[in-house]
Amino acid sequence: MFKQIILASAMVFVAVSVMAADIQLPEPDKSNKTTLIQSLEDRQSQHEFSDKEVDNQTLSTILWSAYGVNRADGKRTIPTAMNKKDLNVYVFNKDGIWLYDADANTLKQQSNENHLDLFQKQDYMNSVSTVLVYTGSGEDYAVMHAGSAYQNVELYVAASNMASIVRGYFDHEEVAKVLNLPTGQRVIISQAIGWKK
Ligand SMILES: Cc1cc2nc3c(=O)[nH]c(=O)nc-3n(C[C@H](O)[C@H](O)[C@H](O)COP(=O)(O)O)c2cc1C
Repeated sequence: MFKQIILASAMVFVAVSVMAADIQLPEPDKSNKTTLIQSLEDRQSQHEFSDKEVDNQTLSTILWSAYGVNRADGKRTIPTAMNKKDLNVYVFNKDGIWLYDADANTLKQQSNENHLDLFQKQDYMNSVSTVLVYTGSGEDYAVMHAGSAYQNVELYVAASNMASIVRGYFDHEEVAKVLNLPTGQRVIISQAIGWKK
């Protein structure tokens, strides 16, 4: 009986902590055997994307590459100054806006509205259906952390024959507004990800 109560409580806890609108991502797929040297050879910005959407398995691996937990002590795939972990990675897609929670490997829903139009300043962006947005504090370190994260993504994308481009050409203030960023946080940079045309 005691065991059943514990089990029932655990199930309620899991149900509450992963809200209906949040997404539990699959484990990142670490089976890609492309060498780092090959990824460095192949990395380049893409200006043509196919309409095909990024599935959650691929998204999980990309987010893990960007800023995921790679050790038992919770540290990340990128170094962070004083282990501050002051970077946030948001996913904009057709279903809304999501905040990556690396510890739980979940996407926390921030909005159920499609805001991809905020990034459609260049023609090739019309076929992009997933944009990562890196945010952080106003300090220099957060900007460096964003650079490390987007480069990890660039390399994973190159290793996977996918398409990506880092992008600063969008209205940062509008994006900050839809993200409802807390005081002291700012939008740093974005990165379109998808499949080659
Ligand atoms: C911080 C940053 C911001 C960028 N912003 C844009 C952008 O707004 N639009 C765009 O088409 N490319 C953008 N780029 C991509 C660069 O134009 C591209 O990296 C550069 O031309 C070199 O090409 P490569 O990435 O293929 O080596 C940006 C790159 C960086 C690193």
